[in-house]
Amino acid sequence: MAHVVALSNQKGGVAKTTTTISLGASLAGMGRRVLLVDLDPQSNLSLSLGHQDDAPGETISDALETALNPRKVDWDELIRHTSQENLDIVPSDARLWTVERLITEKQGYEYELKTLLARWQKIYDYILVDCSPSLGPLTVMALTAADRVIIPIQTEFLAVVGLVRLIETIDAVKEHTNSNLEFNLLAVMYDQRNGICRDVLTKLQENFSARLFSTVIGVDTRLKECVAVGQPITQYDPRTRATQQYGMLADEIERIIDR
Ligand SMILES: Nc1ncnc2c1ncn2[C@@H]1O[C@H](COP(=O)(O)OP(=O)(O)O)[C@@H](O)[C@H]1O
Ligand SMILES: [Mg+2]
Repeated sequence: MAHVVALSNQKGGVAKTTTTISLGASLAGMGRRVLLVDLDPQSNLSLSLGHQDDAPGETISDALETALNPRKVDWDELIRHTSQENLDIVPSDARLWTVERLITEKQGYEYELKTLLARWQKIYDYILVDCSPSLGPLTVMALTAADRVIIPIQTEFLAVVGLVRLIETIDAVKEHTNSNLEFNLLAVMYDQRNGICRDVLTKLQENFSARLFSTVIGVDTRLKECVAVGQPITQYDPRTRATQQYGMLADEIERIIDR
């Protein structure tokens, strides 16, 4: 059965998409079968892996729309293979804005993504869901579908502002739609020469000890470059620091979930 991980933080630009792709590619490189689901109407994950948002074929928007207008969907067609073996994606497009607005009219909408992902539970070892920078209905669906949520936190001043609201949202989801949800924090964009980065990391370690991954992701500009060529960092530069660190994160997750 796939372990479903949501990457969430209502702040934008904190490496949710980067972590989804890089962690997914690391797990795929270890031989795990990985599905990445783009649940952001801005489609950054899809675009970063070379999938154009106006490309033909069904997307996550079509799939979720069937909750409102039932019709036949070719579920296999939703999945696109990437340049890396074992790494597939379900892309999104801008129509997901509308779907998000309308889907709340349906009672029990919170479970729609979970129902959708159940189709692929047996085919994959991991399903990673890249959330949009909000705590709206799409994120609630992702948290309801997930076994675990990973919150990337930038190691900088004010980075933890907003974390309380996110944890409150997680608690609400645990109470109402997904009592087994776990969460972890991942420190990202760490620069050890920078005193503020060091202070913030120490505070995170003090306050979240067991929930904070021991792997820390440093600043690595190669992560910005690989997006332009549509490749995961693991392919673009197998030796760069970020590839090694995301590999360590993949190992850490495998240990936590006992695989
Ligand atoms: N460890 C890192 N070092 C340097 N740049 C990074 C790192 N992680 C992410 N980035 C860059 O930061 C920007 C925001 O990352 P992104 O993954 O798109 O964030 P989000 O999905 O949370 O909005 C992107 O330009 C990305 O390439
Ligand atoms: Mg993103």
